Formats: sequence, C-alpha cells, structure tokens
Amino acid sequence: MLFIAPSLLSADFSKLDADIAKVTDAGADYLHLDVMDGMFVPNISFGPCVISSIRRVSSLIFDVHLMIKDPERYVDSFIHAGADIITIHYESCSDPLSVIKHVKEQEVRVAIAISPKTPADVVFPFLSYVDMVLVMTVEPGFGGQAMIPETLDKVRIIRRQANSLGLTDLDIEVDGGITEDNAHLATSAGANVLVAGSAIFKSKKPRATITAMRTAARDNPFAG
Ligand code: DX5
Ligand code: ZN
Repeated sequence: MLFIAPSLLSADFSKLDADIAKVTDAGADYLHLDVMDGMFVPNISFGPCVISSIRRVSSLIFDVHLMIKDPERYVDSFIHAGADIITIHYESCSDPLSVIKHVKEQEVRVAIAISPKTPADVVFPFLSYVDMVLVMTVEPGFGGQAMIPETLDKVRIIRRQANSLGLTDLDIEVDGGITEDNAHLATSAGANVLVAGSAIFKSKKPRATITAMRTAARDNPFAG
C-alpha cells in the first residue's frame, strides 16, 4: 500500500496549522517531521515541543525522522509528544537494535534510516525488527535538493531481501527530492512510502500533486 508523507520542513513555519490543513485536505497519509540537531546534520529544525503542539491540531500519522546524534536520549520525548512512527539513523547511534526494541516495547512503529553513502546491506540484520526502512535519496539536512538516482538501487536491494525473508509487509520509505515526475522510479524500485517536502508544500495544487504521485505508483509497481 502506498503512503504519501509531506515533509513539514517545507511548510511556512509562521502558519503551521493552515499548512498542515492544506496537505491534509490534499490527501496526505502521514506528516513527515524532520528533527535535526545541528550535530548529526548541519541544520537545526524543531523538537518535541513543536510536535506536541501540532499533535493537537492534526490526526495524520506523525512520521518522526530523527536526524540526531545518539537518538536514544530523546526517543521517549518524541513518543510522548505524539509520534506514531520513530525513525532513527543507522549512522547516528552505536546500538540501533536496542533503540529499535525500546521503541517497539512502547507500541510505536519504528524505522531505520540510511544516508546516501551507507550501503544497503547494513539494514539486513534489522529487517525483522522494524516496520519500515528509510532510504535517504538526498544527503540529510535540507529540503529542496535533487534526488540522487543511485540511491534507488538500495531500495531495490532491500525490497528483494525483505521479500526473500518473507517480510512482505515491510514499508520502504524514500526521502529527498521526490516529485510527481520521479515517483515512478521510487515505486518501481520497491518504495511504498514517499516523502515529499517542497513538491507538495510548494505546489499550487497539492491535491493534484499527490494524485499524480499515487497514479505514478499504481502504474509502476515494484519491478522485481
Ligand atoms: C532532508 C529531510 C527531508 C526533506 C525532504 O534531510 O529528511 O524530509 O525535508 O524535502 P524535499 O522533498 O524538498 O527534498
Ligand atoms: Zn526526512
């Protein structure tokens, strides 16, 4: 099943309520929330306070992407703030499995993310523990970058591996530079959760943009 996840990083932060309503009305499934600490990535965004505030005005699935060093320090704060999915980066902590298990114990969905230079096979040992793998299609840190096509090879590798293990329900999310024009490349590689920041929030017709992404996905399923 396909899920569309607009990234709030591309919203107008002076009117979050209205911008969230806009993408909700446009048919978004998730709200992708990019948390950046200025250490793991060279940018700082927002934290649990903002997420708990917008939790009061949105019933979308909150897909919290932690681009922070040693995320185990803060996962409980983000769960308390209302995260439905917590994603940690493989590169950001010394023991991802313990963080993954800790999140699952609290009945929150969990994902592991890899940056563009990280090989696909590092996530193999985690596949049976996670709900989702996030393959970064740009270097994490900023919205509005162009998608790196080679990263989609990793999506294909991970989808094949998951299928070979019988993990056919695993979600694979792509994040960075996804547009209605390249969504078909991501879905045919095996992605089923599409994050799009600028493509949706900056669109004059967000509903048409989301519909075009759904059509692209429908017409271009995993090609094996
Ligand atoms: C980048 C973030 C992305 C980003 C996506 O570090 O993880 O979620 O905001 O924005 P676009 O779709 O504009 O590349
Ligand atoms: Zn993200």
